[in-house]
Amino acid sequence: MQLIDGKAIADVVKAEIAETVRLRKEQGLKVPHLAAILVGHDGGSETYVAHKVKACEQVGFESTLIRFEADVTEEELLATVEKLNNDSQIDGFIVQLPLPKHISEQKVIEAIDYRKDVDGFHPINVGRASIGLPSFVSATPAGILELLKRYEIPTKGKRCVVIGRSNIVGKPVAGLMMQKAYPGDATVTVCHSHTENLKEIVSQADIIIAALGSPEFLTADMVKEGAVVIDVGTTRVPSSETKSGWKLKGDVKFDEVAPKCSYITPVPGGVGPMTIVSLLKNTLLATEIKF
Ligand code: GUN
Repeated sequence: MQLIDGKAIADVVKAEIAETVRLRKEQGLKVPHLAAILVGHDGGSETYVAHKVKACEQVGFESTLIRFEADVTEEELLATVEKLNNDSQIDGFIVQLPLPKHISEQKVIEAIDYRKDVDGFHPINVGRASIGLPSFVSATPAGILELLKRYEIPTKGKRCVVIGRSNIVGKPVAGLMMQKAYPGDATVTVCHSHTENLKEIVSQADIIIAALGSPEFLTADMVKEGAVVIDVGTTRVPSSETKSGWKLKGDVKFDEVAPKCSYITPVPGGVGPMTIVSLLKNTLLATEIKF
């Protein structure tokens, strides 16, 4: 069994991005500039956005954080999105989700110019990705594919089972795994809460991508000997072992599943660290090419 070290790969990719930025500076080209809009004071969102800003610093990007209180109006937020769409200094930007209930997340996402939508949430990017056109792919699916690529894990012709059908992980990762490419060319099945015979289907998989958000859902009896297991779960569960009072739990019962795997991602330190790297890669792409 080989552990997929997401933290180590994320550091390698960050170093590659930093080198590209250094070369761009040397050639007098524009330094990538990411903006993030953060509404309110949700603990998780504060942490994620702080990590994104710090990652920009690490690779030499410029970043701008725009903060609003939770009572900001939808109109005000949409006006800021419009301003960023038209600001030639900003190459890409994100609106951290979730937003307060009085604001339509879909309306805000659709207001973002898809050419600056480095989260890959805009329907134009989702549609373009699904037919293989250049696009911004959302961070978690892109991070998973990067891990498969860096570990040279074969995917062509393999049976890949995705558990979970969310718009930001399950659906896009299923689409990417079936595209005519590497990683890709897999035979993909998507399982979800209404799937019958789930265990039977999952136990035939060469590659399992668990993205349902149910701690320790995937047990050893569902996993074929030699399978590749990618754990996307990041549920916060109460813990007396940590200072914060919680720890992250994946969707995989790691201790019993790991011995059966050829490769497996841990939680934390697997897929998680790759998501911010994907955002950085998208921002660099937004700076380099316009599609
Ligand atoms: N909230 C949780 N994950 C994400 C993400 O990838 N992007 C944004 N904008 N908000 C999030």
